[in-house]
Amino acid sequence: MNDAESLTRSIGEAPDLAALEQLRVAALGKSGSVTAQLKSLGSMSPEERTAKAPHVHALREQVTAALAQRKAALEKAELERKLATEKIDLSLPATDLAVGTVHPVSQVLDELAEIFADLGFAVAEGPEIEDQWHNFTALNMPEFHPARAMQDTFYCERIDGSDAAELHVLRTHTSPVQVRTMTSQPPPIRIIAPGRVYRSDSDATHTPMFHQVEGLVIDRNITMGHLKWTLETFLKAFFERDDIVLRMRPSYFPFTEPSAEVDVGWSMEKGRRVVGGSEGWMEVLGSGMVHPKVIANCGLDPDEWQGFAFGTGVDRLAMLKYGMDDLRAFFDGDLRWLKHYGFRALDVPTLSGGVGA
Ligand code: PHE
Repeated sequence: MNDAESLTRSIGEAPDLAALEQLRVAALGKSGSVTAQLKSLGSMSPEERTAKAPHVHALREQVTAALAQRKAALEKAELERKLATEKIDLSLPATDLAVGTVHPVSQVLDELAEIFADLGFAVAEGPEIEDQWHNFTALNMPEFHPARAMQDTFYCERIDGSDAAELHVLRTHTSPVQVRTMTSQPPPIRIIAPGRVYRSDSDATHTPMFHQVEGLVIDRNITMGHLKWTLETFLKAFFERDDIVLRMRPSYFPFTEPSAEVDVGWSMEKGRRVVGGSEGWMEVLGSGMVHPKVIANCGLDPDEWQGFAFGTGVDRLAMLKYGMDDLRAFFDGDLRWLKHYGFRALDVPTLSGGVGA
């Protein structure tokens, strides 16, 4: 057996890539057998070199070709082994990920923030555990004022050792945020204050916790005309209809003068009462011109500054727009209800929903 045969045979029989590499080094490496033969050509006489060189070069080519062939064969075998052993079973069903929904209240809060942002209103917030000055007194409801009883207030227990003169309350409305805003920033003011409020009340349309949104504008020369335009523009944008008709009825709130309850016209569509048109009226908002006493209580001069305020129930707006009829279901946490009435996060281009399709 000559050199070429024995080398190519052992290359052809190399059991794995590591053994093959050893053979390559032994033949073609720096001190390999074929390399040695190539080197020896240099010290030969021209005649001898002419005679031997073709064989040596042929040997190198044969060995190189045999190495490449065996390498390809070993790699193919390795790949086949992997394919056979590392099988992924794509027929297994994927794990079902539970996808949540945006609660209708969150959805409506986002819609409100967006609509009022377009009108130049910022969003303001205040604490849910409020002191009586902010919740009542500054809003022109002094102690023993009957209006304090009007709102079914939850009073907090006195914290042991506390020397606070009065008990804190769970805020009964978002109006204390009016006070907090007027005492913390100079006019002109244009804010909405969305948030949770609490009253001791429970039936199909009342829950002890519910959501309100307050609106407040304080500037020079503000009139009820501005109030009416703002509410009309807001309701048209919110209910996505142009046939929104408003009716302002004289009313009473201690913190506004004059005060107006705002009714919106409704009509029957497919057996359902919807906002728009004027077959009948339903009350949707409380509003009025901020009482000069409230402005003065917040440290502003009522001869220079005046404005309007309004407040409404966010849950109620959601029910009217999206057609739910039991307020209690909003807060039961029943997944079937949430799936049915909730909004898919990627479908609604609002703040909670992110930028969707
Ligand atoms: N705070 C009132 C309520 O809860 C609503 C309201 C707000 C009325 C602002 C007038 C002005 O009933």
